[in-house]
Amino acid sequence: MHGFLAAHKRKHGDIFTVLIAGKYITFIMNPLLYPYVIKHGKQLDFHEFSDQVAPMTFGYPPVNSGRFPGLADHIQRSFRLLQGENLDSLTESMMRNLMLVFRQDYLSGESEWSTENMYQFCNSVMFEATFLTMFGKPAHTNRHSGMATLREDFVEFDNMFPLLIARIPIFLLRGTKTIRDKLINYLHPAEMSKWSNTSLFIKERAALFEQYECLGDRDKAAHHFAILWASVGNTVPATFWALYYLVTHPEALLVVREEINSVLQLAGIEADTRTNISFTREQLDRLIYLESSINESLRLSSASMNIRVAQEDFSLRLEGESSIKVRKGDIISLYPQSMHMDPEIYENPEDYKFDRYIEDGKEKTDFYKEGQRLKYYRMPFGSGSTKCPGRYFAINEMKQFLSLLVLYFDMEVVEGQKLCTLDPSRAGLGILLPATDIKIRYRLRQA
Ligand code: HEM
Repeated sequence: MHGFLAAHKRKHGDIFTVLIAGKYITFIMNPLLYPYVIKHGKQLDFHEFSDQVAPMTFGYPPVNSGRFPGLADHIQRSFRLLQGENLDSLTESMMRNLMLVFRQDYLSGESEWSTENMYQFCNSVMFEATFLTMFGKPAHTNRHSGMATLREDFVEFDNMFPLLIARIPIFLLRGTKTIRDKLINYLHPAEMSKWSNTSLFIKERAALFEQYECLGDRDKAAHHFAILWASVGNTVPATFWALYYLVTHPEALLVVREEINSVLQLAGIEADTRTNISFTREQLDRLIYLESSINESLRLSSASMNIRVAQEDFSLRLEGESSIKVRKGDIISLYPQSMHMDPEIYENPEDYKFDRYIEDGKEKTDFYKEGQRLKYYRMPFGSGSTKCPGRYFAINEMKQFLSLLVLYFDMEVVEGQKLCTLDPSRAGLGILLPATDIKIRYRLRQA
């Protein structure tokens, strides 16, 4: 995708239209022009696209069909529960769940080296801890018994995700409907009502769905399933890349480990495998080298396409006097990967530089193109009013996961393996997965 667009840019300039599967898609390639597109939120709408694709993918009836008055707005409003004050309780709960999974599965007290596949490791910890944080725990125990199967089913569904988003009917994708039904059933309201410690976000959404009589129990469960996908579909690969780059760059790991230790020492907390550690929001915010390293790995691994559908014929004003004519139904698209890999903005863009977003001990926010400062220079979470509402939680949970690993474990890539490359099959849809997994060995850090 990146190569295809770069070739067209060389031939046609910063703006060009491509006819893909009967749809005219206009790509705006120069990030200096992004603000002109992003500010036209009303005329260039994201939800027209997602409202068509998400119901088909996750299996609930279209929200905007007229059968559910007000539901789409309520759903949008529910996203505020992922941010602000609620972010604190989500983050605290995530830390408890990460500690629970780590302690029971990995902190066995042995100091021998163990070997794991890195992606599988990130997936197993982050999937379960995020699930428990969002949806809660079963009545009489701390962990869901069917988690490994649920995760495997999820991975199988997720492998088909690009085809579903491309609107290939699910019945043509062998076995995918059965798997999706299984995943949806897991989140059936009758089951979920037995769970406790459910996040306010999910509780409020469940209460909202109850107000719509024509929304069946299966439909409600399918909405929950969509949130399960949103909360782990990108976070797991993003966590993988953040860990992968740290482990393969010992100089970065060293700085990040020192930073985490010094934030804990300042608070008088001793990292000890027997006691629970928690970070306040302020402490997480102070981990700026860790944050820069995460942002750098997001820059290198994200390939989401920002899609906007024109709601009317209009003239899209760009810089100066220039404008482009847009027809109702046309698609305008931004492809931030091209910006993330632009050598004019990021020197040696292929390289991982863990402190790329730090300057003079503070977050660096000035990046330039054609001598002008960019308003948008890193966009893994989309843009404008539809920007990912879970982005603060995502960064926090990655920081927590990485902090625990860095504090408790020595970790290294097993020698003799090829380095990881990006699997392009999800280009346009978010964080790319690694083409192959990689073996790591780890052991408890010696005191
Ligand atoms: C939407 C990225 C984690 C919830 C999106 C969008 C992107 C994105 C690109 C589309 C925005 C647009 O096109 O303007 C990511 C990445 C994540 C992540 C890279 C992790 C690294 C999360 C988490 C949640 C979440 C943890 C929490 C539940 C959502 C929701 C939407 C969304 C609900 C739909 C928003 C809407 O319909 O307006 N995300 N996301 N995301 N994300 Fe995330």
